[in-house]
Amino acid sequence: MEKPVVILGSINYDIVATVERLPLKGETVNSYGFDVFTGGKGANQAVQVALLGMRSVFIGQVGGDVQGENVLAGIREKGVDASLAGVLSGERTGCALITVAPDGSNTLAHAAGANHRLARGLVDSAAARIREAEVFITQTEINMDALLYGVTLARDAGVKTLLNPAPAIPLPEELFAMLDYIAPNEVESGIYTKIPRQGKPAEAWRRENAEWFLKRNVKNVCITLGQEGAYFNNGREEYYIPAFPITAVDTTAAGDSFIGGFVFGIARGWPVEKCMIFASACGAVSAGTRGAQNSIGNYDTISAFLKERGAAGF
Ligand code: RIB
Repeated sequence: MEKPVVILGSINYDIVATVERLPLKGETVNSYGFDVFTGGKGANQAVQVALLGMRSVFIGQVGGDVQGENVLAGIREKGVDASLAGVLSGERTGCALITVAPDGSNTLAHAAGANHRLARGLVDSAAARIREAEVFITQTEINMDALLYGVTLARDAGVKTLLNPAPAIPLPEELFAMLDYIAPNEVESGIYTKIPRQGKPAEAWRRENAEWFLKRNVKNVCITLGQEGAYFNNGREEYYIPAFPITAVDTTAAGDSFIGGFVFGIARGWPVEKCMIFASACGAVSAGTRGAQNSIGNYDTISAFLKERGAAGF
């Protein structure tokens, strides 16, 4: 039986207001309307993996409220194994307040709720699944002690580990050396490395960023660059791939789709450049529709997109 991808991460309901433009600090702008979607970086990544047809196991936690029931039902419907997800009564399910502008750009505030109260016991109850995984993914929308514990379990079992350090929060130094892959976006990368961009060609800035992580013994660095594409460096191989030109409707979860697609390729043993092109197609498809999990494409959709764009070898 195929080994699963295991995702330890956040699960949210997203309240999304479509605005004429993103508000400035202290400003009120009109909204054209709002919607509620199932989201959370961990859950979104788990959904992308499942929709690509791979076993996807989600470990995370909702609160004891109706939103928690809804978001768990939402990821199950998409094929994610959520049998190890916890419900913490007396706590709220994580919620993201999102504004989306007409060009697809957004702002996002995350009220973590139950996502920040993951107990070590919950991760322990999933230890057997983590140890049998092909790839273990996590993000920084959950409490750091649970994150570190999960990464340690995976690393000790020889499972490939990927951290999507979003949002950018301080990371313990010992975490870096336990990571096979780190995949920040360029804003997050800049926050971690503090490498100034001004007066520097983009390629040099990206390389310096990757080197900052490599020096800390992360094995592979993949930086997503939004509409500019994505960049990879592991000290031996270096790739830049441009993004597929699209008209973005809502970029929420596009980064999560990229991660899910990238890991799908890694789990299949594909060369890195192929993983990146496939991941980029996943992100582009997601950015073409409003919302988080409802915008994520399945394998057939991604294949059709790649074919339409003339990408060979998929
Ligand atoms: O990456 C997008 C996700 O971030 C949203 O679905 C929201 O829930 C936040 O966690």
